[in-house]
Amino acid sequence: MEIKVEIGSVTEVSTELLVVNLFEDSGQPGGATGAVDAALQGAIADLMAAGDIKGKEGEVTLLYPRGGVSAKRVLVVGLGRRDALNVHAVRRAAAAVARKAQELGIESLCTIVHGAGAGNIDPEGAAQAVVEGTVLGSYQFTAYLTCNDAIRKPLAGLTLLTHDATSLPALQAGATAGNAIAEAVCLARDLTNLPGNDLPPSAMAARAQEVAAQCGLTCTVLDETQMQTLGMGSLLAVGKGTDQPSQFIVLEHNADRSDLKPYVVVGKGITFDSGGISLKPGQGMEAMKDDMAGAAATLGIMQAVAALDLPIRVVGLMPCVENMPSGKAYRPGDVIKAINGRTIEVISTDAEGRLILADALGYAQRYQPQAVVDLATLTGACVVALGTVASGLLCNDDALAGQLEKAAGESGEKTWRLPLWDEYKQQIKSDVADIKNSGGREAGAVIGGIFLQNFVDYPWAHVDIAGMVFSHQVEGWRVKGGTGYGVRLLVAWLRQQAVQA
Ligand code: BES
Ligand code: MN
Ligand code: ZN
Repeated sequence: MEIKVEIGSVTEVSTELLVVNLFEDSGQPGGATGAVDAALQGAIADLMAAGDIKGKEGEVTLLYPRGGVSAKRVLVVGLGRRDALNVHAVRRAAAAVARKAQELGIESLCTIVHGAGAGNIDPEGAAQAVVEGTVLGSYQFTAYLTCNDAIRKPLAGLTLLTHDATSLPALQAGATAGNAIAEAVCLARDLTNLPGNDLPPSAMAARAQEVAAQCGLTCTVLDETQMQTLGMGSLLAVGKGTDQPSQFIVLEHNADRSDLKPYVVVGKGITFDSGGISLKPGQGMEAMKDDMAGAAATLGIMQAVAALDLPIRVVGLMPCVENMPSGKAYRPGDVIKAINGRTIEVISTDAEGRLILADALGYAQRYQPQAVVDLATLTGACVVALGTVASGLLCNDDALAGQLEKAAGESGEKTWRLPLWDEYKQQIKSDVADIKNSGGREAGAVIGGIFLQNFVDYPWAHVDIAGMVFSHQVEGWRVKGGTGYGVRLLVAWLRQQAVQA
């Protein structure tokens, strides 16, 4: 999407669609909306008086100005209550506008920056939210659609209009960041939406190489022989049942800055999770094509970090494996050895995410990282606990947990902390190995974290995103399919770290 920020007047700008806004509790249209209303001889005030526009968040009302303003169409979007306005409401409203524009078949639109003048949001944050909402709300995955009437014309242009020249640099900065971040979310969504047949680990690696070349990241892909040499017996065990070779993808931003301790992001990349020999029930198994959403988010995060050129060192690790049953597959009862020498008794081959993360987290130790955050669709138990509203956060460092909670508030990608108490450790004690990979049904999301803790010796957070990566409905900036959850959360976190650096 081409994004511009322009100084101009709402009544004089020429555009296919001009977007103004309204609060739910506003008496009379004010500001830019008031100016448009006056030019339209009170058309908006009439609609309000008739009770046909209420200003409810995401409500969109289309008007044809008949020469009253230069725009071809005017769209009034509701922002909800004035005192409840925040960047999340702005992002959702912009998403509703983008979908309406697409429905109309419009290619570009011009909007005022919702909230920029309202006082409780800074102009930069408001511009970022408008751009994010527009790009994410109009996202569509069309790779497999051959019947044209299902495909909406993509929005090609977005202009943010302001009358205040002094706000221009802030709006420009917000718009640029918002676009970089939203594009990264779309990349993660695309990968999440791709089915297992078209996105084996080798395709993840190819895509990572491509992204790295485009945005100036360093990318190294380790093959199975190299992983063998490193002692990644845990990851390699999971990949034994498939014909698709496993790949360990390493991305780096500011790789040459060996003076800086890096932040490391790790993403679970199971390109399809059948459960392996501990086969999942057939019903709903197709959903397990999204079991690589953590790795997809990691690639998106690295792309955004490069685009924003954050002055910190960041490493992205994407262990990518397909989990399949076969005569070569690993079995329940097998004992395997991870990169740090820990032995693991396999109870369930369906608890495979933690096995590939064990080696990735162990590998991360070579960087002596400032902090490591893993994103993983790890447990159904986390979905039972928190639903599709928040991810589960398991963290061995209170300062890091606080930073992530702050980033969650800023991005609107909610996370909720769960405990890592020692009492849980007995649940994964094994009689034959150091630990076992499943502790049964109790506290499943916590046990995932308890297991992974065996492979870290640095400040670390595990974000269980199992309930967050796929949406079955259109709501706000989310559309059906992959959500790209985690990209905005961790980019917000890394931007905070960059400010402090
Ligand atoms: N990928 C699944 C977790 C999952 C389940 C994500 C449902 C999204 C929706 C993971 O590999 C898995 O199978 N976990 C097991 C762990 C158990 C065997 C300890 C689970 O949640 O049942
Ligand atoms: Mn599984
Ligand atoms: Zn899985």
